Amino acid sequence: MTLIVPGAPTRRGLLLGAGAATGVLAAPGLLRAAPSSIDPFTLGVASGDPLPDGFVLWTRLAPDPLAKDGLGGMSSAVTVDWEVARDPAMRQTAAKGRAVADAGFVHSVHVEVGGLQPDRPYWYRFTAMGAQSPVGRARTAPRPGARMDRLKVVACSCAHYELGWFSAYRHMAAEEPDLAFFLGDYIYEYSYRGDRGRENVRLHERDEDVVDLAGFRVRYAQYKTDPDLQALHAVAPSVVTWDDHEVQNDYSGAWSQDVSISQTQMLARRAAGYRAFYEHMPLRRHHRPNGPDMRIYRRMGFGDLADITVLDGRQYRSIQACASPTSRRGHVAKDAECANRTDPTRTMLGAAQEDWLYKGFKRGGARWTVIAQDLLVAPALEHAPGGGFGYFTDSWDGYAANRDRMLAALAGSKARNPVFFGGDVHCFFNTDLKADFADPAARTIATEFVTTAVTQNPPAGSPYAGVMARSPHIKFFDETTRGYIGFEIGRDRMETRFQAISDRADPKATVRTLQRFVVEDGKPGAVAV
Ligand SMILES: [Fe+2]
Repeated sequence: MTLIVPGAPTRRGLLLGAGAATGVLAAPGLLRAAPSSIDPFTLGVASGDPLPDGFVLWTRLAPDPLAKDGLGGMSSAVTVDWEVARDPAMRQTAAKGRAVADAGFVHSVHVEVGGLQPDRPYWYRFTAMGAQSPVGRARTAPRPGARMDRLKVVACSCAHYELGWFSAYRHMAAEEPDLAFFLGDYIYEYSYRGDRGRENVRLHERDEDVVDLAGFRVRYAQYKTDPDLQALHAVAPSVVTWDDHEVQNDYSGAWSQDVSISQTQMLARRAAGYRAFYEHMPLRRHHRPNGPDMRIYRRMGFGDLADITVLDGRQYRSIQACASPTSRRGHVAKDAECANRTDPTRTMLGAAQEDWLYKGFKRGGARWTVIAQDLLVAPALEHAPGGGFGYFTDSWDGYAANRDRMLAALAGSKARNPVFFGGDVHCFFNTDLKADFADPAARTIATEFVTTAVTQNPPAGSPYAGVMARSPHIKFFDETTRGYIGFEIGRDRMETRFQAISDRADPKATVRTLQRFVVEDGKPGAVAV
């Protein structure tokens, strides 16, 4: 049980410090209304998926967040009061209500607020068990088609808790964006121990791989106790998708990377991972999982400026390309050894998601088409073990026909200014997504930015060394830094920054801009500036 001792330095005190720079968490409303010895808000607050009249609010009551049973020190159902205000001091109430947190979804609440004004900021907080949560800031989207001049977003992926402090999250929060994209590997299911753990700055609560619901719940809770992550969630609505580590490294659909794990076993593990993901993310109730199935691909609009499409690159995949009888792990495959990498019957997104995606492209819409997903889209020829070059089968390169279909659908559509954002590879990339990657003169269909990791290691053995010389459509590459992406969408241009933190092992790490880019309206492909 976490007790708040008056005068003692508390995690909440850390949260205040982290949020002070943003001006959000330091709001007077942060002070508790009622004295309480139990703090159920140890995991912070979050908002997500803005609409013109509202957004989702999230919290989870967990006075003992690391309790081994995954239940956070809670048992019976509790009522949670929520309020939304027009001001950071929470004086002008815009909406309020009551939700019930119960053990079914581990005392999380997902409040879908409606009836608000479009295109403006709001502040919110929860009250439960005699305690008040920190104040978070959210915002609504403009009405469909309404003029919008500017949207400021930050994007991140791959945050292994053990390998570093979440300074990237702190600096993302300090930017006070309109939205924060979480592009996957929000948690890691495995731990670094022994020799591999020598760079750890802190440890997971459990060192064995997480495979069940209690384990995933404790893992999310541990990450969410981090004050920098809490500050980021509190400052802006989140837009989340997942990659593999929310379940298991390199899984594809119902197939584990380990051939000893049956599809039935894998689906049970997936059900646990997906359920815990829902429980800890600001997602609408219609995303609630049904066993191992959980639809998270979706769209959201920001007036006439931006349409955001969020993809699921894991749940509906075909089995990994050239899986062997001993392994279904992603690997660097040479073309001569892996014919089915380009097999058109294989899919990354699944037939239903592909169909939904292409219909959306066809309709077109806002000035900028932003696609938030988990992986590097562009082909990247990398060093193969033992010499020569090949393509990594776990990324879009392993599902090349699906990539071709996606880019062809985009090319023949009304979607304006398509820009992909991805993660997973723990390196920064800027690429031109081409109609034909074999022809450097081919038309560029879309722009791509891939963020490096918040903390994760660069790929072992530098397999991408020299990749720009081999692949002219790759225009920027850096594996040496950890960090995030910041971008601002304007009417005539998108400005993107690759942001590098000074040292993942330093809890006070600073940040610098590694490279800036501009994408002009109507001209696919970024220009480094
Ligand atoms: Fe990762």
